[in-house]
Amino acid sequence: MSLDLSGDRSEAPAVADDGVWLACIECEWMGAPFEEVRYRCPDCDGLLEVRYDEHPTFDEFEGTGVWRYADALPFDAGVSIEEGNTPLYAVPTIEDEVGVADLRVKHEGMNPTGSFKDRGMTVGVRVAEELGVGRLACASTGNTSAALACYGARAGTEVLVLLPAGKVAAGKVAQASLHGARILEVDGNFDACLDIVSDLAERGEAYLLNSLNPFRLEGQKTIGLEIIEQFRDQTGDLPDRIVLPVGNAGNTAALYKAFRELVAAGELSVEEVPTLTGVQAEGAAPMVEAIEEGNDEVRRWDEVETRATAIRIGNPVNAPKALPGIRETGGTAVAVSDEEITDAQRALARDGVGVEPASAASVAGLRKLRESGEIGSEEQVVCLTTGHLLKDPDAAAAAGADPEPVPADTEGVLEHLGE
Ligand code: F0G
Repeated sequence: MSLDLSGDRSEAPAVADDGVWLACIECEWMGAPFEEVRYRCPDCDGLLEVRYDEHPTFDEFEGTGVWRYADALPFDAGVSIEEGNTPLYAVPTIEDEVGVADLRVKHEGMNPTGSFKDRGMTVGVRVAEELGVGRLACASTGNTSAALACYGARAGTEVLVLLPAGKVAAGKVAQASLHGARILEVDGNFDACLDIVSDLAERGEAYLLNSLNPFRLEGQKTIGLEIIEQFRDQTGDLPDRIVLPVGNAGNTAALYKAFRELVAAGELSVEEVPTLTGVQAEGAAPMVEAIEEGNDEVRRWDEVETRATAIRIGNPVNAPKALPGIRETGGTAVAVSDEEITDAQRALARDGVGVEPASAASVAGLRKLRESGEIGSEEQVVCLTTGHLLKDPDAAAAAGADPEPVPADTEGVLEHLGE
């Protein structure tokens, strides 16, 4: 394992604001963080990353939730509804069945709006306030729009969301709607929505809060910090591997950054960094293709389909940040079928953990990689489940048992039960 820590061990350049600056991951460009709205490098169009001149150690963190980690974030506080501090569950039945030394599930569905997106939004909306923008926008397979609508409402800022028509789970549209976002249903897939909203952002029509926005990933970085603290508290050890669903690969990039910064802070050795393992649905697996073929660039898939609509994505924008994370930690990526996803959703439910289909992809991927021997029986593994069961009630009802009609009297019910 060898991590590229060059960006995480640098002195603050003149453009830094209080030890924070933006840097291009492809070239030498660096810029001030809050003076101008920027999503990509003005020189080479590469992705931008937030950099710090100092990295805190665990004993410097206090409080709970995302803002516990304020010393590792660009601000001390933000518009907050108590996001983060999600449970890390033991799942004994799946652990036994899969056959690993330890298996825990980090359930991000327990965030206020029911997905990990809240972590990115509390930071992203804080930065939007700093920049003084008037309208927030995102493209979304659903969860981002729910979180942005909620945090935007709380910040008192107008929110515009672009959703692929007919491909967003009911719970998510309901959230975006009730929190007061303007919802545009686009006759195209998520990638088309992101193309449009990126254009709108470039034209100054709105501030973009997709994971292309480097500040959102700072918030999501706290998933990695929490996993390390909780796993240590619960087991006295560190996880060997983290398995997670991949769409735009924002979380993969964010976890990798969290671990690099912990290495730079002297909290983890390079060998202790957990192996990052990404899982995609077979019908939307461009990252898996790039890993399997050893490509540095990800080929955009124009046609994508999966029951796990949250990760129905053909052009993972954060691939340039995430591919090195998977490779440098010795990880891999695997594709799973919709049936395998639904099976894993049922298995999680039996252990008391209710998740939406995309989340179950992590457990489906773990099962598959255990069967192939790629993941060893001695490993201590954390699966990330990204969204709550109630996000996609139709998928949950289809995966579970059907209600049984009975007459409205006890005798009739007993008779039915006796059948
Ligand atoms: N799981 C869930 C439940 C998601 O909603 C998403 C992304 C992912 C996994 C993939 O995470 O993009 O960091 O690799 N949902 C976005 C949205 C695209 O619009 O809600 P990633």
